[in-house]
Amino acid sequence: MTKLTLALPKGRVLERSLAALRAAGLGLTLPPGGRGLKHDAGDAWIIEMRNSDVPTYVELGVADAGVVGKEVLLEAGSALFEPVDLGFAVCRLSLIRPLGATRPITRIASKYPRLTQQYLARKGLTAEVVKLSGNVELACLTGLADAVVDVVETGGTIRANHLTEVEVILSSSARLVVNRAALKLKATLLKPLIAALRQHTAT
Ligand code: PRP
Repeated sequence: MTKLTLALPKGRVLERSLAALRAAGLGLTLPPGGRGLKHDAGDAWIIEMRNSDVPTYVELGVADAGVVGKEVLLEAGSALFEPVDLGFAVCRLSLIRPLGATRPITRIASKYPRLTQQYLARKGLTAEVVKLSGNVELACLTGLADAVVDVVETGGTIRANHLTEVEVILSSSARLVVNRAALKLKATLLKPLIAALRQHTAT
């Protein structure tokens, strides 16, 4: 029988994504503790990846659907069908500086260079934007940049590194994204899943 292929982000969002999909009626089991990246999880194939790659896998139809943060979709400039706000992984994309910093910002490091440039343009500000791949707060701690634009969820990372959130740029949460061709070709699987996820997140 044809199954769905679902692209899910590795890390803390993976378990929450699986829980939402299970609550929507999919029987999904991942092998414990393995290093595998593609799993026959029961009612669907699960492929695990970095969150920033989810839009690409869904857009190109390798995955029928996926779970990804709104901030990642905006950074990707994605026009993917995004039928459900799953309501978890609630976070914000913020401008962050070292506590007490007062100098004008001349260089900003971020995993989100496009959203950072858009933010600067909106504010009428000019600064160099440097793209990094992870642990972005390190740029402030080392002097690589005088500010970063990054995700804040609990605030634990900025507190632990003596940084402060200067401005919230946008609010985000996890979204279900769906490949448009798959929505037609696998409608009997995808439409009930979308409906169940909507119902589950509305309660
Ligand atoms: C994200 C983000 C912050 C941290 C914020 O990093 O880049 O570093 O989470 O969360 P908090 O406010 O709850 O501390 P992630 O763990 O995704 O890893 P990365 O920096 O390597 O991308």
